[in-house]
Amino acid sequence: MVILGVETSCDDTCLALLEAKRGKFKTLVNFVSSQAKLHAKYGGVFPSLAKREHQKNLPLLFNKIKEGVSLSKIRLIGVSAGPGLEPCLWTGINFAKNLAQELKLPLVPVNHIEAHILINFLKIKPLERPSFFPAIALIVSGGHTQLILMKKIGGYKILGETRDDAAGECLDKTARILGLEYPGGPAIARIAKEFKKNKIKQAFSLPRPMISQKNYHFSFSGLKTAVLYLVKDLTKGKKKLEKEKIIAISREIQQAVIDVLLTKTIKAAKEFKAKSVIVGGGVSANQELRRQFRKELKKKVPLVRILFPEPKLSTDNALMTALSAYFHQKETITPRKLEAKANLRLK
Ligand code: KG4
Ligand code: ZN
Repeated sequence: MVILGVETSCDDTCLALLEAKRGKFKTLVNFVSSQAKLHAKYGGVFPSLAKREHQKNLPLLFNKIKEGVSLSKIRLIGVSAGPGLEPCLWTGINFAKNLAQELKLPLVPVNHIEAHILINFLKIKPLERPSFFPAIALIVSGGHTQLILMKKIGGYKILGETRDDAAGECLDKTARILGLEYPGGPAIARIAKEFKKNKIKQAFSLPRPMISQKNYHFSFSGLKTAVLYLVKDLTKGKKKLEKEKIIAISREIQQAVIDVLLTKTIKAAKEFKAKSVIVGGGVSANQELRRQFRKELKKKVPLVRILFPEPKLSTDNALMTALSAYFHQKETITPRKLEAKANLRLK
């Protein structure tokens, strides 16, 4: 069967076609139209602008799909219903609703967080899937930071989440303080790499919020504030911060985020006797995070397998939406009943 995925929960307009045959998947189309450049001047996503762009981009991407694939092949439509920015979610939902009615196709609402988890199963064969559970899923994106106990596909318990800023949000905001571009996550990752390359000696020390607390919650706003004060202090009487300092601070921000995420994930993997750790969301595209997670898990919980999506599938895409719809294909909804839920929770 061929499934159309529609994802517009934030600032990427995404359409994808996924083919499922006996539980194995093939990517037919995966279009992502990024608005990052447009939002860069605001240092974050501007919802009404994002909505307008989705409205403009969805038909353009859909026309591209129509050029390559016959619409009669599509059997199911999956659309992100939340969580996300409400005006943005509605554009995808309205688009999917109209299409479902026009083509007389079943429609499945998809949880965006679950989709970030499930994309990790794109290449896992059906018979192998049960061997990954129970799993600890870590979702780290621009809007969310959650540690989730996953007993099966469709069975989740949120163990903890951020009390304030998400990890990606913290990277985006601290990058802005440092004068780096948006989105901040990749910008900080790029510049942090120069620390070793340029043999920089300078080192700064930033807090690892909540790292020693026994719970699985996170907090990243204190890290952001610490960066703000540090930069204020360092730029006193100067026009701007030296490149070396920006590199050293970027590296320390990235390391502080990795340390907190890694410590809590390993703790949860031990406590819940996890067979695997599954990571997803934009921040999981970070190469240094991947390297340290692989290394430390091997050392501290050697029997626990680790799954990361292909880096370009870590960030928002509609392939993950189509894949989630496949797993929930029986949970269809009447188009007129489907609504955007900005704060949709995993169950
Ligand atoms: O999952 P995503 O595409 O959108 C949301 O659902 O929020 O995540 C976007 C977030 C942004 O905060 C961005 O800075 C971060 O993911 N990000 C990264 C990297 N690529 C994207 N953070 C660290 N390293 C990266 N390579
Ligand atoms: Zn996302």
